[in-house]
Amino acid sequence: MITVPASVTQMQLAANGEAGRAWLAKLPHLVDELRELWPIVEIGPAFEGGSVGYVAPVVLRDRSRAVLKVNLPDGETDCEPDALAVWNGQGAVRLLRSDPRRGAMLLERLEPGVSLATLPDREAAIDIACSLLRRLWVPVPSSHPFRLVTRLAQEYADAFPAKYVRAGRPFASSLLACAVDLCRRFAHDDAPRTLANRDFHLGNILAARREPWLVIDPKPLVGDPAFDAAHLIRSLLPDAIPIPGYERLVSTIAARLGLPVKRIAEWVLVRSVENALWTLATGMGDPRWDVACAAASGESFHLL
Ligand SMILES: Nc1ncnc2c1ncn2[C@@H]1O[C@H](COP(=O)(O)OP(=O)(O)O)[C@@H](O)[C@H]1O
Ligand SMILES: [Mg+2]
Repeated sequence: MITVPASVTQMQLAANGEAGRAWLAKLPHLVDELRELWPIVEIGPAFEGGSVGYVAPVVLRDRSRAVLKVNLPDGETDCEPDALAVWNGQGAVRLLRSDPRRGAMLLERLEPGVSLATLPDREAAIDIACSLLRRLWVPVPSSHPFRLVTRLAQEYADAFPAKYVRAGRPFASSLLACAVDLCRRFAHDDAPRTLANRDFHLGNILAARREPWLVIDPKPLVGDPAFDAAHLIRSLLPDAIPIPGYERLVSTIAARLGLPVKRIAEWVLVRSVENALWTLATGMGDPRWDVACAAASGESFHLL
């Protein structure tokens, strides 16, 4: 018997509908198969705090400790093991085994495993996160399996207008037009071929022993590093409207990462519009904060 955290069940049903329901139904069977395959002798209660995958501490037959993670295989999660393999434990959790067909990975267990979000000194946490992120922006060979940020930008440009209309034009059309224009430009980018991670935030950085902090849970792409910076910024901003300290945070992160401020602000606008439209389509939460974030970026950095 396994127990799946309520947050994971809820996210799977809201974001993936029938496919999510089917995956949840077959998860116990998948875990049984993996138990035999790898071989796992103990499975602990699943970790709380994740939202998409089934993640639990396990003990292997040789008594070593590891973590089992099972994802619903899709365009977002497919390449998680490939990114971990590229990093090979440098700044990130080590991949011990992978079974792409089952969307499963066996990972090095990080202990104590508390996340960087729990560090009381926020400035120190930001410094640690930024220096880790710089190390993780490694070049990839031309035959890599990852999605391209340029392609994603083109998909956004193509999809945003219809999603906006379907959602009932829920914010200023100037914001939507700006996001679409930026995406069209990003789609023709000559950005460097570096490994990017669309889910880099303090909650996905865990305390470890091999290195003080290591990254988990990458959603890798290849392309513009400012794409990652924008997500980190969005995750660090207070949950308040109007959003306090926006310009200062963008400037701090840009300086720590050695990236142009305006480029990051442009990606914050795009990723906020994208998230607002996703929230409206799935009914998962309130889009007002994303809209405020997009507007703050547009106004502060004269993008509109
Ligand atoms: N290698 C690991 N070692 C220890 N704990 C882990 C490890 N991987 C994940 N966790 C725990 O499981 C939680 C969810 O894992 P994560 O990979 O972030 O899943 P999700 O894709 O659902 O966000 C993390 O927040 C962390 O508490
Ligand atoms: Mg996570």
